[in-house]
Amino acid sequence: MTEQWAGEGIASAVETASAVETASAAEIAAAEAVQLAGIDTSVAHPARVYDYWLGGKDNFAADREAAERVLAATPGLRFRVQANRAFLARAVRYLVGQAGIRQFLDIGTGIPAANNTHEVAQAVAPDSRIVYVDNDPIVLVHARALLASSPEGSTQFVQGDLRDAGAILRAAGSTLDLGQPVALMLLGILHLIQDSEHPHQIVADLMASLPAGSYLVLSHPAIDIHAAQAEAQKRYNERVSTPQTLRTRDEVARFFDGLELVPPGVVYVHAWRPGPSDLASADTVSAHGGVARKPWPVGPSRGQASSGRCSARAAARVAALAARRAASSAASRRSSLGR
Ligand SMILES: C[S@@+](CC[C@H](N)C(=O)[O-])C[C@H]1O[C@@H](n2cnc3c(N)ncnc32)[C@H](O)[C@@H]1O
Repeated sequence: MTEQWAGEGIASAVETASAVETASAAEIAAAEAVQLAGIDTSVAHPARVYDYWLGGKDNFAADREAAERVLAATPGLRFRVQANRAFLARAVRYLVGQAGIRQFLDIGTGIPAANNTHEVAQAVAPDSRIVYVDNDPIVLVHARALLASSPEGSTQFVQGDLRDAGAILRAAGSTLDLGQPVALMLLGILHLIQDSEHPHQIVADLMASLPAGSYLVLSHPAIDIHAAQAEAQKRYNERVSTPQTLRTRDEVARFFDGLELVPPGVVYVHAWRPGPSDLASADTVSAHGGVARKPWPVGPSRGQASSGRCSARAAARVAALAARRAASSAASRRSSLGR
């Protein structure tokens, strides 16, 4: 691995390497890494478009063109994606500082930016453990930056798909104790799961697989705040490989069904427990978000389970999730065969 893989400017290295005959060894190595990872740079991808909006360097010409077209429809977008990152940092600080959470499962990690989950969590509690998951191979190319854990804690990167939650949990189990509470982080990812892929069921299944006392942190770009969002969605879907489905506040609130919302509930992300620098005017808002806790079951068993019993229950929950997914895949196959 070259140093460039650790974080910055892979795309510019790749583009330089192909444009200039005298590319450096590091640039050529970066170009080869992108090719080896099977990354198609000719079509815009969500992680790289988002990186461009955040001011990152790990995007290609197709990503920048798509990102600029959407920006032209919604000029405040750059502020809005920063507000989403600030929400991530405030939510993680709350979970570590006030809720005592030490384990995070961050699905749809994105290309590393400022304030990645492990940096925020381990700054408060160095023993925090974080598993990052993304289905875009470009994030794997950056895994080294995501794996820079404090010595007391640990981090893991899994290339996986939110639509196969059982596989994610099986892989995450080597870093996280799934018998103990986990914060499931789903920021800026569920709009990339279409209604036909049952996003609410995916979230419900994942939360059902985690123990009581676990948390859900979720942010979701909105369709019901600005009139321009519909045009932005259309432009995005004309260019980017994975189409987006922006949703209303009610649709976003349904992701939290059965959970106890932490005040102030489901709100515009910049309004979730804001600090003085998080204040924003209404025209710069475009996402709904919230934090919620999975309640303890009512009854005498609360807090009495041994860690062995917790682990056995965690294994049973992961197995049940895998069985549900297998049954649902079989049903889809039967229906596509007309039986
Ligand atoms: C908009 S970025 C959000 C990054 C980060 N969570 C944040 O909020 O700043 C969305 C990320 O989700 C990833 N993603 C999209 N669909 C996914 C899926 N089905 N499974 C796993 N990751 C996915 C993309 O590759 C991208 O890195």
